[in-house]
Amino acid sequence: METVSALRVNSLYKVYGNRADKAMEILRNSAGRDEKLAGLPVTAAVVDANFEVRRGEIFVVMGLSGSGKSTLIRMLNGLLPPTHGTVEVDGVDITTLKPAALRKLRREKISMVFQHFALQPHRSVLDNASYALEVAGMPRAERRERALQALRMVGLDHCADKLPQELSGGMRQRVGLARALAAGTDIMLMDEAFSALDPLIRREVQDQLLELQAELGKTIVFITHDLNEAMRLGDRIAVMRAGRIVQIGTAEEILTDPSNDYVAQFVADVDRTRILTASAVMERPLGVVDVNSGPRVAARVLRETQTSAVYITGRDKRYLGTVTADDATRAVRDGLTNLQEIVSTGYARKVDDTTPVADIFAPCAESPAPVAVVDAAGRLAGVIPRVTLLSALGSISADASEHTATPEPADTTPTGSDTAPVPVQVVAEPSGRLTGEPA
Ligand SMILES: Nc1ncnc2c1ncn2[C@@H]1O[C@H](COP(=O)(O)OP(=O)(O)OP(=O)(O)O)[C@@H](O)[C@H]1O
Ligand SMILES: [Mg+2]
Repeated sequence: METVSALRVNSLYKVYGNRADKAMEILRNSAGRDEKLAGLPVTAAVVDANFEVRRGEIFVVMGLSGSGKSTLIRMLNGLLPPTHGTVEVDGVDITTLKPAALRKLRREKISMVFQHFALQPHRSVLDNASYALEVAGMPRAERRERALQALRMVGLDHCADKLPQELSGGMRQRVGLARALAAGTDIMLMDEAFSALDPLIRREVQDQLLELQAELGKTIVFITHDLNEAMRLGDRIAVMRAGRIVQIGTAEEILTDPSNDYVAQFVADVDRTRILTASAVMERPLGVVDVNSGPRVAARVLRETQTSAVYITGRDKRYLGTVTADDATRAVRDGLTNLQEIVSTGYARKVDDTTPVADIFAPCAESPAPVAVVDAAGRLAGVIPRVTLLSALGSISADASEHTATPEPADTTPTGSDTAPVPVQVVAEPSGRLTGEPA
């Protein structure tokens, strides 16, 4: 049966060294304080990890060198036996599997991409890409076909007959990726897979991974100590510190609500305008009017809210555009009974709720009225007045350790996805002109 989570980890520990049992006892009874381990010849590399990885997500594990990332990922495919705890793959606890069953698991369900690609120098690119299939005993013609297909996915089919040393670092990394793709497993573990690449090439392979992922929908556990990489790739990110997972959340959650000072310091250098999205800075629209309610209603709401335009929604709360005071007055004069004919999409620019803040400046500058933010279903989710964007920026660049990177917006009073935003906002923005001081 399909379960939501592809991987699930329950109170997982890995203690290296001789007195692991003693160390475990101390760890389990000491509520997070590890000093008492001093004196024991052990390293607690992973301590009480609990999380699940959802099918189809990129789950990033991030942490400084030595924080336990590789140890953790190696327990996920049974390369390392845990000291304590369970690892479930598709609902099956793999910690009890025999070696042969573990090999089968790694062949059929979980492949791994390493930092140094582990390519064999005397084999062609194609033979490297098909290596796992060869080990699995797949007939030559079939495995070459599969490997070629995987090389095509990463844009390297034209290099199939080359040797690894004839390729650049980025290309070699893509061969490593192709090898994992050729294996055709649903789960991929990637341990610092891109860390050896220089920054520009690294971005390229990151993009490629995201493109492939959009198409293939694998379940990926991606390890990195690079925060920007984590933020770019991760649907969710787990932050590790000294063996413990100290926070799990989306990039945005980790930026805006770091669970402690350690995480806050870790994220202090990120370009937040690339991570924070429209939905994090949007506000409730002052006036929302149903397209069927007629110009008199629109005119009244415009008066009450003292705004230059009201936002018009149609069936299923879908966003249609705006109506200005002039339009409404004219419509009343002309005796129109609904707003259909006078809705304009030109007066307020529109962005998706997932648009990074960095990409909202231009629409905001061009838009006489606050920018409309729509969700995936096309519903009006909120608006972004210029002042809000500026004040959000102010707090974004403020000292990150204050943990107050977000302005107040929607997260204090979440907008139910199928309820219309209601006009509750008190700060009017009369003409859509820039009205003043960023908070
Ligand atoms: N085989 C081992 N025997 C003993 N200690 C080990 C072993 N492997 C790792 N360790 C220790 O466990 C801790 C976690 O190591 P791990 O390799 O998991 O960290 P990491 O987060 O992957 O670091 P890096 O970013 O440098 O790869 C470190 O203190 C390390 O020295
Ligand atoms: Mg490591």
